[in-house]
Amino acid sequence: MKSMKKRIVFIILICVMMVAGCANGASRKVADEGTGETKEELVTIGFSQVGAESDWRKENSESMRSTFTRDKGYELIFEDAQQKQQNQITAIRTFIQREVDYIVLAPVTEDGWDTVLGEARDAGIPVIIVDRMVNVDDDSLFTCWVGSDFKLEGKKACAWLKTYLERQHVNPSDVKIVDIQGTIGSSAQIGRTTGLRDAVLENGWSLLDAVTGEYTQAKGREAAARLLEKYDDINVIYCENDNEAFGALEAIEAAGKKAGGNIRAGEVMVISFDGVSEQALDNLRNGSISCIGECNPLHGPRVRKIIENLERGETPDKYEYVDEDIFSGFEDITEITVDGTSYPVKIMGK
Ligand code: AHR
Repeated sequence: MKSMKKRIVFIILICVMMVAGCANGASRKVADEGTGETKEELVTIGFSQVGAESDWRKENSESMRSTFTRDKGYELIFEDAQQKQQNQITAIRTFIQREVDYIVLAPVTEDGWDTVLGEARDAGIPVIIVDRMVNVDDDSLFTCWVGSDFKLEGKKACAWLKTYLERQHVNPSDVKIVDIQGTIGSSAQIGRTTGLRDAVLENGWSLLDAVTGEYTQAKGREAAARLLEKYDDINVIYCENDNEAFGALEAIEAAGKKAGGNIRAGEVMVISFDGVSEQALDNLRNGSISCIGECNPLHGPRVRKIIENLERGETPDKYEYVDEDIFSGFEDITEITVDGTSYPVKIMGK
């Protein structure tokens, strides 16, 4: 009798868990062609990721992987393109052949997507663009986009630099900057480079050179080493992500110079983007990186929300910009202003 009771309780518990599972998950109820009975089917997502070039990217991949799990009702087909657009195009074509429910694309660069996105549209598969943007003639080729305002990130970092230089009484004509750019043609590079170029013109600084570090530590180090050898008066290295900045710090040390904010005493200031890894935050705390424009990689839950909206038949916003901070270890600048809007600076305590 006692064991009968136990069994009933167990069965009720399983039913409750199944109902709760369905409520939280995204699986679809479909008719089984053979038996005609309804069965649960996972929502399939083909995700074409740029690569694994940076700490940011690894965090971003982890966010997608931990969001789209089978127990939440998803099957994630993850394809790493190793920073090559052709690999992404091939991955999208494979997703179309496999008849996935959604395609999520983190594009390596902006141009060159019209044909393959046209193929996805013809197949009736919604395409969600994440992180960087695509530059297409017809924006109905993708359902929506979610990511960062990269130009604003660049403007914020330059507003911080301007405030800092004014407080240190550094003459604008003495400011000699080099730009270690990201992957050329990617939205993150275009936005951050434009933010810097505009600020250079507005403030009368000198931009000595700009070369790509492809968002990696090794290329960032190589680029910084070449630039430090070519120009002996560099006092600001603007790195378009933290991994390039780690490489630049190695190159500064190898060149017998010191990274830091005391430009008047000959230090080389490093500015960067992302603020994802502990290493980057430690560099802010010890002053070797002076300022980091945050780039938030946690897009998994944002994409999931979009898919849930679409599953309910709703139309998500076409463009969704993520709010981001600016970080520094210098305690005296607590606010910066960009185009009339004030933004607080998050101070990394020592
Ligand atoms: O597109 C986002 C950028 O790509 C990040 O800043 C960089 O670290 C990554 O590789």
